[in-house]
Formats: sequence, structure tokens, C-alpha cells
Amino acid sequence: MKRHLLSAADLTLEDALLVLDTAEELAQVSERTVKKLPTLRGRTVVNLFFEDSTRTKTSFELAAKRLSADVINFAAKGSSVSKGETLKDTALTLEAMGTDAVVIRHSWSGAPVNLARIIRGSVVNAGDGTHEHPTQALLDAFTMRQRLGRLEGLKVTIVGDILHSRVARSNVLLLKTLGAEVTLVAPPTLLPTGVDAWPAEVSYDLDAVLPKSDVVMMLRVQRERMGAAYFPSVREYSRRYGLDVDRAAQLQDHTVVMHPGPMVRGMEIASEVADGLRSTIVDQVTNGVSVRMAVLYLLLGGSEPAIGSSSETRMGVAAQ
Ligand code: NCD
Repeated sequence: MKRHLLSAADLTLEDALLVLDTAEELAQVSERTVKKLPTLRGRTVVNLFFEDSTRTKTSFELAAKRLSADVINFAAKGSSVSKGETLKDTALTLEAMGTDAVVIRHSWSGAPVNLARIIRGSVVNAGDGTHEHPTQALLDAFTMRQRLGRLEGLKVTIVGDILHSRVARSNVLLLKTLGAEVTLVAPPTLLPTGVDAWPAEVSYDLDAVLPKSDVVMMLRVQRERMGAAYFPSVREYSRRYGLDVDRAAQLQDHTVVMHPGPMVRGMEIASEVADGLRSTIVDQVTNGVSVRMAVLYLLLGGSEPAIGSSSETRMGVAAQ
């Protein structure tokens, strides 16, 4: 593994499988009454969130705490950032206090890459602008493998606002590495220029693609990133690109429905589908903690056994 996780493209096939396998072992910790390993005791992880987040922030915090790291949650609001301090100075300040890893979410695409040039510790990209969100792609891959037993050859359809979605970009890159086949479905206005160069098929016809899919991943329309109108109306968008009960009925029996959250129920996905048996939405959240534990473990302490005795299993999970 590289020192930082900035892009899903940083992961080789071996790296990606190592994260998924490690996450699988670590998932056992979250099922115990005492959900803690001493692996990262004495290490400090800073959560640097400049953009809103519910799932990702809580999940990184829990992951670091379950590995016994000290966690600082830094929110831009209420800090010196609102006094005009730059990202560089904020980062240097945090580093001067001895942080081992910085988990950053920022509205600028490229903020984590810049941070990685400045600080000595590891940087984990928790979502940068419309660019990438590699740990989301890892938890999505983990969830697909958990539900369907494999990743290679899976037909994954990603539907919605691809243009503004860092989740889509990271998923396309990681799924390519893992040997799955991705089809992107969106109105032409919600596809990025240059999408032809992505390792994915593009379609505008959701009904044609659904029956062939093993996984259908619905994305939120990110209206907070839109200045102009990208589609005629919510009703029209839902009619053409929403996953309602009738559309879900076209899916094969084994097909799963995913969503990274936050969802807009009734727009890109109907409540009946989001809460139905095919849905992995709650599993994705649960798996997010294990995957982020694995990422922090591998970036910060991967060469040492997770708990004291190395005579037990590598992660020491069976030892407790
Ligand atoms: C996504 C994000 O922030 O990129 N959510 C997430 O991290 N689970 C997607 C979104 O905001 O729609």
C-alpha cells in the first residue's frame, strides 16, 4: 500500500483485495460487546471535515476509535478557517501537534493531494469536491462481494448524477481494478465531458440496462453543486431515471440495489425499494466502519500484528 489513500486508482488489485480481506476480519470486532482492538493505541487521527457529512465522518471516527487511536474531530466551522486560515496552515498546525493520519473531506477537488504534499503523516481522502471518494468505493465493493460472493465479471450499473459524483468516479476506477463491468446511466446533462475515456459503458436508457445488471447503484442528484437547471423537473427526472417499484420488478432475483446516502426518497429511489430485501443501504453503512478500520490499520500499522500476540491470527481477531 502507498502511504496515502487519495484515489481509488492508488490501489493495485492486491492492495484492494488486502483492504477487503482485512475489513472482513475486522468486521468481527464490531459484532462483539467490547468493540475495540489496541492496534492503533498511541496514534492520532485527525478528521478534517470542511464539508457536511453524516455517514463518512461518524464512520471514520468509529473506525479509529475501535482501533484505539486518539481521534480529533476538526470542523472548519468554529475553527480558524473562518478567520481566513489556509488549508496549508491548518494542516501544518495539526501536524505540529503530532498527528499520524489526516482524514480530509473538502469541496475542492485535489485538496487531499495538496495536503499529502505538505504533511508527513498519511492522508485519507474522505471525498474531495466532485473528484473522488475512495473509501466509499471500497465499502461498496465489500458490500457487493458480501452479497454476491464475487466481484470479477459483475455487471454494475451506476445511475444518476455522475457529473457531480465522486462516488461514481471512485467506483468506476476501483471496479475496473477488481474486474467488474460498469455501465453509467444518466441524462446527457449529468455526465461529465470526457466520460468516453472512463473504463465504463454509457447508456441513457435505464429500462434497457436494468434486467442485465447484478448491482444497481443509485446516486443522489447533488443540487447543492448545481448553479443551473440540469433537468426539466424532479418529476421528469424520477420518471426517467428513478428506481421505483415497477422498475425494480424488472431486476433479476439476485440483483442488489445500493445507494451511498444521503437518499432523496421518492426522487432517485422509491421508499419501498430503499427499504426492500434487495437493498444494501444499511449494510453499506455497517461495512463502512470495517473498511475504514482496515484502511487506517493498513496505512498506519499494517506491518505489526493488530494485537500483541502474533502467534494468533494475523489480525488477532480470533485471540479475543
Ligand atoms: C456521498 C458524498 O458525500 O460524496 N455520500 C457519502 O459519502 N456517503 C454522496 C452524496 O453526497 O450524494
